[in-house]
This record gives sequence, structure tokens and C-alpha cells, in this order.
Amino acid sequence: MKGKRILITGGAGFIGSHLVDRLGDRNEVTTIDDLSTGTLRNLSVAPRTVRLKKASVLQSELLPEVMAGHDIVYHLAAKTSVPESVAHPDEYWRTNVEGTVRVLKAAADASVPRVVFISSAAVYGDSPETPKVESMRPAPTSPYATTKMVGEFACQEIRGMTKLETVVVRLFNAYGPRQDPSAPYAGVMAKFAAAVAANRPIDIYGDGEQTRDFLYVGDIAEGLELAGEKPVNGQVINLGSGEALTVNDVVRILSEITDRPIRVARKPARPGDILHSRADVTRAKETLGFVARTSVREGLEKTLQAMKARKGRAPKG
Ligand SMILES: NC(=O)c1ccc[n+]([C@@H]2O[C@H](COP(=O)([O-])OP(=O)(O)OC[C@H]3O[C@@H](n4cnc5c(N)ncnc54)[C@H](O)[C@@H]3O)[C@@H](O)[C@H]2O)c1
Repeated sequence: MKGKRILITGGAGFIGSHLVDRLGDRNEVTTIDDLSTGTLRNLSVAPRTVRLKKASVLQSELLPEVMAGHDIVYHLAAKTSVPESVAHPDEYWRTNVEGTVRVLKAAADASVPRVVFISSAAVYGDSPETPKVESMRPAPTSPYATTKMVGEFACQEIRGMTKLETVVVRLFNAYGPRQDPSAPYAGVMAKFAAAVAANRPIDIYGDGEQTRDFLYVGDIAEGLELAGEKPVNGQVINLGSGEALTVNDVVRILSEITDRPIRVARKPARPGDILHSRADVTRAKETLGFVARTSVREGLEKTLQAMKARKGRAPKG
């Protein structure tokens, strides 16, 4: 895609900033982010032409001006922690549902042609069926998942009532540079890479045989670009690798990369953890022409490198 005017909500976050990097030098990119979890550092290598508006998507009085003249809106701004959503569901409803509804309405009012909404594999819940196919009945098991599901419905609703095109992308487990390892329930890849970079043991909950579908963040940015330009109005599309990897596999690959055994601290399984999750990627392949390109080994190498560089930059104390 090139020569488009693109608005990315949440562009200073982990995934949003990679999308900014990918699209920023071929397009006119603006991001709106309240920097609640995102950082300016995530945008430090973004093309200089990228504009950042530090504001919340809940400030609806600002949205008409922010939206005006854009060809595509990628809506990533959200609160993203499952356990935090259980503790503070109201905040999740406000940011993820009210925020999404306001973004969609403002986009439709400003005659933006398309919104790509970033949803989550969490909407599938913990049903044992795998792989997860888009046609399965969603079964959210946390306020986070429910708010993402309501966001999907809001896309469907506004598409039927206005000329706005909407595309829903259900992301599986993202990993890569800039993912914050410090959050209590941070992604395992970020936590593992941080532990290895700091020479600490890795915590494994349960037997380590639980599986996840990990997708490298650079591949996600590519998939999102395609979701913005292909004729997929009204579609719900899984974005994953299609492969299931166990947590023990991740430790083995890290050990191969670092050429040393990785110390592991075994912990009891956590109640509520989903055991197996893998995307059916047929639709992404058929409608977007998307296939994951980055092997887990390559992606983990890049993640580890970034983690070591980050550690090197951390203030001494
Ligand atoms: N990381 C994953 O594995 C994963 C998986 C599935 C879906 N997702 C979705 O992808 C999107 C990006 O997630 P991420 O992992 O990059 O998280 P992140 O926390 O790094 O990014 C979210 C960004 O949104 C911003 N934000 C939050 N509330 C805002 C508001 N009210 N107004 C403006 N900006 C606001 C934050 O400052 C941050 O920059 C989210 O919608 C998330 O639900 C992520």
C-alpha cells in the first residue's frame, strides 16, 4: 500500500508501532495514542513524517478532526490484560467498547472508507476444539474477551447502517521486539527472552505442554497492511501462524539460539489458563494471501537481540 492517509489508534504500543514502521515511509501516517501503555521510545525509529497526537480515543470532541481525510483507520488502542480486565471490568468496557464505538462512529461521520479492528483470539475462549475457525461460536471467558467481541459486533452493526467498510482481525499470540516483559501476565515470549537476556531462570506453569500459536510482530504488520487493502469488507479473519508450539518447545529453541541450557523454575499450573490455541489460517491465506514468513527461531533471535539492547540502555541503579 502506498500514498494513503492512514490513522493508527494505539500506534505507540507494541504492535501499533511496528505497523507505523511498516506503513510510515510509503504513506501519510498519523497515530493517536494516550501513552497509557505505549511509549515514545517505541516510535523512535519511525519515519520522521509520522505524526503523533497524544490523546485518548475517548475524547470524542477531538475525533472528527483526527479522522478527517483518512483512507484507512487501524483501531488498536485498547486495554489488553486479561487478569486486569477481571479486576477492573468497567475500565475495559470504557476503553475497549466505548472507545471502539466512538472511533467507528467518528470514522463513519468523517466518510473514512474503511476501519480495520484489531480483535483477539481470546474471543474463542477455552473450548477444546482446535484449530480455531472464524465460524465457531465465540465464548469469551474474561471481560477483555467480551469487550473485543462487542467491538466486533459494533463493526458489524455500523457496516450495515453506514457506508463504512469494516474488517475484523483476530490476532493470536503476538511476540517480538518492544513487547513489554514486565507486566504480570506479559506474553511468554517476552518474559522468556527477558529472563534469558538477564540470565534468570524461566518460570514454567504446569508441564509446559500447553500450546500457543505465536506470530512474529513483523508478520502481523504485514497481515494488517493486507487487511487494509484487500477486498475483505465485512470479514472476520484469524491472523496466526497456523502452528502450535508448546512452551517447552520455546525453551528448547532459546537454548539452541543461546547455545546453553536454559534454567527453568517449574510452577503449578495457573487456573484458567487456556491449554491449547491454534488458528485455522485458511481464510487469511485465501482472502489476504497471508502466510507467516518468520520462523519462531528467527523471530526469537530478533526478540532476544532487542531485549539485550534494551537491557543495555536501562538506567543503572
Ligand atoms: N499482544 C498480543 O498478543 C495481542 C493479541 C491479540 C490482540 N491484541 C490486540 O492488539 C492491539 C495492540 O495490543 P499491544 O499488544 O500492542 O498492546 P499495547 O498496550 O502495547 O498497545 C495498546 C496501545 O493503545 C494505547 N491506548 C490504550 N488506551 C488508549 C486510549 N483510550 N486512547 C488512545 N490510546 C490508547 C496504549 O497507550 C498503547 O500504545 C490491542 O487492541 C490488543 O487487544 C494483542
